[in-house]
Amino acid sequence: SAVDEKTLPLAGQQVLITAGPTREAIDPVRYISNHSSGKMGYALAIQAQNLGAQVTLVSGPVALPEPLHVNTIQVSSALEMHQAVFAHVAAADIFIACAAVADYRLADIQTQKIKKSADEMTLSLIKNPDILADVAALPDGPFTVGFAAETQDLEYYAKDKLQRKGLNMIAANDVSNQDIGFNQADNALTVFSADAKIALPKQDKLALAEQLLKIVAKNVSANSL
Ligand code: CTP
Ligand code: CA
Repeated sequence: SAVDEKTLPLAGQQVLITAGPTREAIDPVRYISNHSSGKMGYALAIQAQNLGAQVTLVSGPVALPEPLHVNTIQVSSALEMHQAVFAHVAAADIFIACAAVADYRLADIQTQKIKKSADEMTLSLIKNPDILADVAALPDGPFTVGFAAETQDLEYYAKDKLQRKGLNMIAANDVSNQDIGFNQADNALTVFSADAKIALPKQDKLALAEQLLKIVAKNVSANSL
């Protein structure tokens, strides 16, 4: 409604979000992946929609229902996620990279199931494109928000990623703490921009997503003034 368009913090904004893990196929029955549940990214999609945004969610394989009123695109590999993001990024005002994208994929995906033979085997991997860095490098691209999952020196690595990838904001996640982060209902984040640091205490991922999005909304409007 007209009232909502004026009051909701993300009204009129197109938000593009990546969520979940990616799967990098080894052969037709095996893959390399990680422990991402997708909960944080899905919480961001649900809350961005609640805050008035038009949301596109590019999701790796997760066991979560597709959020209502969100354009959800299911992908499997990092290359597929990259392609889906670039098919939608031109319309986006805000890009939030919450996916735990596999850094490497198989150099050669076997078309037939690999048979057990030698006592040792080596898989050859090559680096995947960095979806977030590629979006941040676009001329006239969206406001970019990254996540940094770290097991040590959280602030140092988060700020390094903020600078190196040329992001507007980064939300840092201590994944060495088993009570929060990967596959947990709760999470805690520290948000960094070029000139600010905001600690968001441990809470339910839905509540945390709302807090993070309100910070994003403020920064987007500040940047566009
Ligand atoms: N990311 C991405 N595409 C990739 C790798 C990472 O879009 N191929 C995004 C993630 O979604 C996250 C941010 O980049 O928002 C940081 O991911 P992270 O794994 O913490 O950082 P990396 O740059 O991959 O560095 P490293 O894994 O060595 O810490
Ligand atoms: Ca990584």
